[in-house]
Amino acid sequence: MSQIKITKFDEGPYVIEGEITLVDGKGNAFRTGSQTALCRCGHSGTQPFCDGTHKSCGFREASEA
Ligand code: FES
Repeated sequence: MSQIKITKFDEGPYVIEGEITLVDGKGNAFRTGSQTALCRCGHSGTQPFCDGTHKSCGFREASEA
């Protein structure tokens, strides 16, 4: 398995670079590509993926490692 990188964007999504398998609670796979942005704000209309709504919903989170 190749290594993946996950970047936590301030006030935005987790962006995963690399091929992943993302499944729901029933084990069914979501369609993903070589880059996947996962919603952290909870307001995306395309859960579990980010659709950019975090920019207008007031989501604030900017932690650092
Ligand atoms: S983080 Fe982008 S829509 Fe939620």
